[in-house]
Amino acid sequence: MSRTSMLKNRASLTHKLSYAVRNPARITPYVKRTARDTWLRLKHPNHVDYYRAVMASDTNRNPEAAVGSQTHERWLALGEMQFNYLAEHGLKPSHRMLDIGCGNLRAGWRFIAHLDAGNYYGIDISPDILISAKQTLTTYELQEKLPHLTITQNLKLDFLPEAHFDVVHAHSVFSHSPITVIDECFANVGRILAPGGFFDFTFDRTEGAEHQVLREDFYYRTETLVKLARKHGLEARFMEDWETRKHGQSKIRVNNPS
Ligand SMILES: C[S@@+](CC[C@H](N)C(=O)[O-])C[C@H]1O[C@@H](n2cnc3c(N)ncnc32)[C@H](O)[C@@H]1O
Repeated sequence: MSRTSMLKNRASLTHKLSYAVRNPARITPYVKRTARDTWLRLKHPNHVDYYRAVMASDTNRNPEAAVGSQTHERWLALGEMQFNYLAEHGLKPSHRMLDIGCGNLRAGWRFIAHLDAGNYYGIDISPDILISAKQTLTTYELQEKLPHLTITQNLKLDFLPEAHFDVVHAHSVFSHSPITVIDECFANVGRILAPGGFFDFTFDRTEGAEHQVLREDFYYRTETLVKLARKHGLEARFMEDWETRKHGQSKIRVNNPS
């Protein structure tokens, strides 16, 4: 991503006005989204409840767009990019994987196909997207792999066994999360990581002021997330090799502290 785009503050009025001038066709959809989100925020003051309602509304329209892909080709490509990255980083069929915010298995179906039966665990806050995930499983005929797909309200991860997962993964989840959600995840992820295991997550990176848009998209500085991980005894590092992929977000890896 360019340095200019990394410094943008998408919440500022100046940015919004200049974007509107350059993209007049996007004004009406933006106004509609703002109205919907304002209503949903009033109804659901808790962030997870709010975002679940956003997902319900988006999934109802188009599940692939709800996880961020406007076309089926992009949905396939984004899943492939996530899978290839972890395959290059040594993901083996015998590994046990937790996919936080698994969505409708855009990447999940590839992980499930690759891993031994029962080794994929997907969690999500949205029942609507998990119903779509089951459809993806059926489409790719992965029933024999018996993945776990579970709804969650928080990231305490307390229902999962200690030192169990070789890979924990959260793609495009912290880009939709306030810092309290990320903090809760960091407080608990170390407990469930197996020896030698790691936790990879993507985030919307800014090198300017941290900001959020409609409480749907959150922009963080790398050092904020690295420092937060350290507060929980976790070593985190920026993954330079992810930056070469055609993806708007950056990636951080947290290694098992033990
Ligand atoms: C942009 S989608 C990405 C889905 C999937 N990781 C992928 O790359 O296809 C974000 C997903 O994270 C889920 N999500 C958002 N906040 C979450 C949280 N705090 N815990 C678990 N899932 C969450 C949403 O419901 C949604 O399915």
